Amino acid sequence: MERKPRSAIVLAAGKGTRMKSTLSKVLHEANGRPLAWYPIRQALAMGCDPVAVVVGHQGGEVRDRLESLFPGAPLRFVVQEQQLGTGHAVRCAREALSDADGRVLILYGDVPLLTEPTLARLVEAGQGRNLAFLSMTPDDPTGYGRVIRDEAGGVRAIVEQKDASPEERAVRECNAGLYDVDAGFLWRELEKVDDKNAQGEIYLTDLVAAAHRAGEAAVAVQAPVGEVSGVNDRAELAAAAKELRRRLALAHMRAGVGMIDPDTVYLDEDVTIEADVVLEPNVRIGKGSFVGAGAVIGQGSVITGSRVGAGVVVKPYSVFEDAVVGERAIVGPFARLRPGTELGPEVHIGNFVETKKTRMGRGSKANHLTYLGDAVIGERCNVGAGTITCNYDGVNKSVTELGDGVFIGSDTQLVAPVRVGDGAYVGAGTTVTDDVPAGALAISRPKQVTKEGWVERRRAAKKSD
Ligand code: UD1
Ligand code: CA
Repeated sequence: MERKPRSAIVLAAGKGTRMKSTLSKVLHEANGRPLAWYPIRQALAMGCDPVAVVVGHQGGEVRDRLESLFPGAPLRFVVQEQQLGTGHAVRCAREALSDADGRVLILYGDVPLLTEPTLARLVEAGQGRNLAFLSMTPDDPTGYGRVIRDEAGGVRAIVEQKDASPEERAVRECNAGLYDVDAGFLWRELEKVDDKNAQGEIYLTDLVAAAHRAGEAAVAVQAPVGEVSGVNDRAELAAAAKELRRRLALAHMRAGVGMIDPDTVYLDEDVTIEADVVLEPNVRIGKGSFVGAGAVIGQGSVITGSRVGAGVVVKPYSVFEDAVVGERAIVGPFARLRPGTELGPEVHIGNFVETKKTRMGRGSKANHLTYLGDAVIGERCNVGAGTITCNYDGVNKSVTELGDGVFIGSDTQLVAPVRVGDGAYVGAGTTVTDDVPAGALAISRPKQVTKEGWVERRRAAKKSD
């Protein structure tokens, strides 16, 4: 059958009062994506062009955030100044869609759980008809529009809770609020809808009665309640986020990612994780991170904006932020890689080591209790326990450079700017203030004094007091 051109309207102008938040409801996140991202992504995936997004509360912010997440996509933002009802919201989008005929998909910005198969059933049911919509049968229908049928079982109308008679309220089948509609029918009939109802709103649902009057009843497509119930408060947000998390984890597992306890793995929608990666419990990976094949991400680790090479082992409770880790490196436990960290292949970073704006060449090691900030470190260096780059003089940040094969003894301070040449040694406990040439030994600690028999003599002196 010939497919008609398709556009979409995503309604997202509601205030979301029950979130009790200064942030617009549709910008609250699940899997690192705002709620409205989900229906927009779906509309785009179905080939809808354009997709009009009706915003109200904090429209500018909503627009900025969503536009940045869909660069180049045919999104058109429309402001509904006053929330005068769903029908009014759709009317506001008319101009943005004026060049579109064919079918219009109408989705809600706060309904993120709708699945592709359900949407496909809706679109299928709409083929060749004026109107199809999704219905649901919740345990408690309070607040929803009821689906009222005629003697023949066709849908006669949707009656809102506040307009419903007791008999109508007893109906359990409810309108989910998502539609597939013929554009000509939509704009023709929506013009005639008024606000003469209990809420003084322009109801989009009046189109259903209009279809019945015109002799072609709308088709109700039954959807699972869990997919179409929207997010209204933070408890519902948490529940929806949990389901979205479950689905994302499942998709990654199907693609070969191992998870010891997927219920406790927190991924953003935009992460890339290759096959044979193992994620231990309570791991969080976000903000476009990449994890290469065969890497192991240890329990409790948090990785954001980072690139983790193939075969890397991240031991438990490590935190990476905007860092790059080369293949087969070993990091942690309890390591902190801050922005601008670039570790080469096979680097070892151990417990309680912090790095920031630091490059380390292949095979270099800093295994214990160390701070490396603004450092450029060559290959095969060994940075001893308790080493500190003193990169900040209270005003400026300066760089520490280590050549290849440098050995830094434990408890060294490198007072930047300073450079240690290839193969040089720095003795334990040294404060390096001057450059150390290649192949040299630098040592700055005072010579040790040893007093034989001192303890015995002191004890005797105390007794005689
Ligand atoms: C609407 C339906 C109702 C259905 C319910 C499902 C109408 C008249 N009623 O109820 O039959 O059972 O959805 O959830 O359509 N919105 C705007 N601008 C407005 C009003 C709403 O953008 O002026 C958006 C909201 O942000 C939300 C969606 O439309 O995403 C639904 O609004 P909401 O107030 O929750 O639904 P109701 O109108 O009560
Ligand atoms: Ca309402």
